[in-house]
Amino acid sequence: MSTKTLLVTGGAGFIGTNFVRHVLTERPTWCIINLDALTYAGNLANFQDLAPDPAARHQFVHGAIQDSGLLEQLFTEESFDAIVHFAAESHVDRSILGPESFVETNVVGTFRLLEASLKQWRSRGKLENFRFLHISTDEVYGSLGSEGYFTESTPYDPSSPYSASKAGSDHLVKAYFRTFALPAIITNCSNNFGPYQFPEKLIPLMILNLMEEKSLPVYGDGKNVRDWLYVIDHCDALIRVLEQGKPGETYNIGGGAERQNIEVVNLLCDLFDSRLDRSTKKASRRLIRFVTDRPGHDRRYAIDASKIRRELGWSPAHNFEEALEATVDWYVNNMDWVELVRSGEYRKWIEINYGERE
Ligand code: NAD
Ligand code: TYD
Repeated sequence: MSTKTLLVTGGAGFIGTNFVRHVLTERPTWCIINLDALTYAGNLANFQDLAPDPAARHQFVHGAIQDSGLLEQLFTEESFDAIVHFAAESHVDRSILGPESFVETNVVGTFRLLEASLKQWRSRGKLENFRFLHISTDEVYGSLGSEGYFTESTPYDPSSPYSASKAGSDHLVKAYFRTFALPAIITNCSNNFGPYQFPEKLIPLMILNLMEEKSLPVYGDGKNVRDWLYVIDHCDALIRVLEQGKPGETYNIGGGAERQNIEVVNLLCDLFDSRLDRSTKKASRRLIRFVTDRPGHDRRYAIDASKIRRELGWSPAHNFEEALEATVDWYVNNMDWVELVRSGEYRKWIEINYGERE
């Protein structure tokens, strides 16, 4: 197994944290420099429980990807074998209420990171094995009707400022491959869930509201469909893409677990009912409230993951229902973490986003 030094951006967020922790156990010769601005979504406490590591395989750098001075310093001090680029503003509802930071981080930040990577790659003789892995989303493809799947050649058609900014960053990454031959790869993944997800997204928000017997806000008619993937399966796919993926290619990653939002919420309600042994049947479902829909709300996402399965031999290892239950367990057992991330900023967000939907 070859030694690698990775620059992971956004490694203190949800997927980044899971990726860093997964790599530390699954690839014992890899080292990680984790660059993260620690916005509301990033949290260093995610690594507190890791055993002290004399080899210092995980080092943290606090800073923003659009800070070209910082990038220059970092790329002068370290030589990277791969950039794994997670850093982003990632929440659709926030992009509707305040799109500017999405353009700043997702578009301008990705551009600056590409520039710094290109400069280092050229100065090191255009190393053949270097990789710029850009983590993107299926939301760039827009919305599906009741039929069909997103493939790697589905035209881009983003609906929200979030997905438009991710689409913009994808285009920049493609351009750096085509124009400058930077060995870049893009992955477009479906909705993730699992430990360390910030409780603004559907699944952790519903889990916490269920724990506290608060109302469960379902947008619109609740029949929008998402294709759910357990975050560890995503991390496995990313390792595979880093090791075997072909520069210039895009790989779609999906869980093959399409569910309507209301089905997910009902399932969580039933999980809580059976755990708490609530005497009335389906007691938790009484907490469901159908609230004003999200503007531009995409109806259905579904990934055709046959390319990554065929070419890299990846498919998800976790079953949706079992992984959902494990996720509930994680939140129930990690309320210290929850309290830590539910800062004043979080409370303000809940007030703004849900206050308007009543
Ligand atoms: P997240 O919001 O949980 O984490 C984002 C991280 O990036 C945080 O740690 C934050 O502090 C950091 N960050 C934000 N702006 C930064 C900046 N300017 N410079 C440096 N760091 C900054 O997001 P996530 O859910 O972990 O998503 C990670 C990536 O995966 C994103 O690019 C997202 O578009 C993509 N993605 C997410 C999903 C999903 O379901 N969560 C699905 C597909 C793709
Ligand atoms: P979300 O977790 O925000 O992910 P994305 O918008 O990137 O798919 O939302 C998942 C789905 O759940 C989406 O269709 C919107 C819906 N949703 C609700 O119904 N209520 C909520 O409170 C939230 C946060 C999302």
